[in-house]
Amino acid sequence: MNNPYMPSRAVINEIIQETDTNDVKTFRVAFQDESAWETFKYRPGQFAEVSLFGVGEAPISITSSPTQKGYLEFSVKKAGVVTTALHQTRVGDIIGVRGPYGNNFPVEDMEGKNLVIIGGGIGLAPVRSLITYALDQENRSRFNDVTIIYGARSPGDLVFKWELENWGKRPDVDLHVTVDRGDERWTGKVGFVPAVLMEVAPKPDDCVTVTCGPPIMIKFVLQNLEKLGFEPRQIVTTLEMRMKCGIGKCGRCNIGKNYVCRDGPVFTLEQLSQMPQEY
Ligand SMILES: Cc1cc2nc3c(=O)[nH]c(=O)nc-3n(C[C@H](O)[C@H](O)[C@H](O)COP(=O)(O)OP(=O)(O)OC[C@H]3O[C@@H](n4cnc5c(N)ncnc54)[C@H](O)[C@@H]3O)c2cc1C
Ligand code: FES
Repeated sequence: MNNPYMPSRAVINEIIQETDTNDVKTFRVAFQDESAWETFKYRPGQFAEVSLFGVGEAPISITSSPTQKGYLEFSVKKAGVVTTALHQTRVGDIIGVRGPYGNNFPVEDMEGKNLVIIGGGIGLAPVRSLITYALDQENRSRFNDVTIIYGARSPGDLVFKWELENWGKRPDVDLHVTVDRGDERWTGKVGFVPAVLMEVAPKPDDCVTVTCGPPIMIKFVLQNLEKLGFEPRQIVTTLEMRMKCGIGKCGRCNIGKNYVCRDGPVFTLEQLSQMPQEY
C-alpha cells in the first residue's frame, strides 16, 4: 500500500527572487521520477506539502497552473524553520513534494462569468494559478472579463513583477496594481486594496470574486464587496490554517466539523458564515 506521507523527490530548476528584501522566492521544480506526474494532477487553488529532508514540511500553494506542463512552482515567504531552510537551497537541490491536497477554486461555476481577482502581498500566489489557468489560450473563451486588483506594502514587496507586466499588456485583462507607500521610482497607484476595489467598483451581475491576502485586507475587502452588492455565494476566499498532515487525519486544521486541508482551503463567504469564527 502507498504511504500517503511519502513525498516525491523534486529537483529545483530555477529560483526567482521576488521582493527587494528577498523574503519571497519562487521555486520552479520538476519531479525526478516522471511517473510522479501521473498521481500529481492538480487544479488551481490546491496546495502541496513541501519538505526539506531532515528539516520538516510546510503546506504551500501551487502557484503554477495545470496548463503549464513539466514543472510546478511554489512561492515561499520566509516565515520559520522550513521556509527559511527552503530559502537557503540552490538550483539543483532536491526537495520533497506530496499532494496535491485540498479542494480548488470552483472553475466550472466561474465559466461564462466575469472574474474579479483580488490579492495582497504573497496572497497573489494561490490566485496566480487561477489567473494563468483562465488566461490560457485553451481556457480564455470560457470566462468573460478578468479584473485583477493587487497590492503590496511597497513597490519592492510586489511579487510576480514580470507576470504583472504581462497581464498589464493584455487587452483582455483589467489590471490595477497599488502600493500602501510609494517611493521615488513608483509612478503607479498608491492606496489600500479595499479602497482601490471601491474605485474600480465591479458590478456583481454574473461575477465571481476571489480574494487572498493578509487577514486585515480580506476583512475590509469582504465588507466592501458586500457594499458593492456581492452576495456571499459570489465571494470566494482561501484560508491558511496551521496544518500538519494535510490529508484530514491529524485534526490540526479543523474549524467545527470542517478540515481546512480536506474541505478547504477554498471557501465561499456563504460557507464561512455557517462555520464557527475560529479562523
Ligand atoms: C493551504 C496553505 C497554503 C499556504 N501557501 C503558502 C504559500 O504559497 N507561500 C507561503 O510562503 N506560505 C504559505 N502558507 C503558509 C505556510 O505554510 C506557513 O507560513 C508555514 O508555517 C511555514 O512553515 P515554517 O516551518 O517555515 O514556519 P514555522 O516555523 O512553522 O512558523 C513560523 C511562524 O509562523 C507562525 N505560523 C505558522 N503557521 C501559521 C499559520 N498557518 N498562520 C499563522 N501563523 C502561523 C508560527 O507561529 C511562527 O511564528 C500556506 C499555508 C496553508 C495552510
Ligand atoms: S492538517 Fe491534519 S487534519 Fe488537516
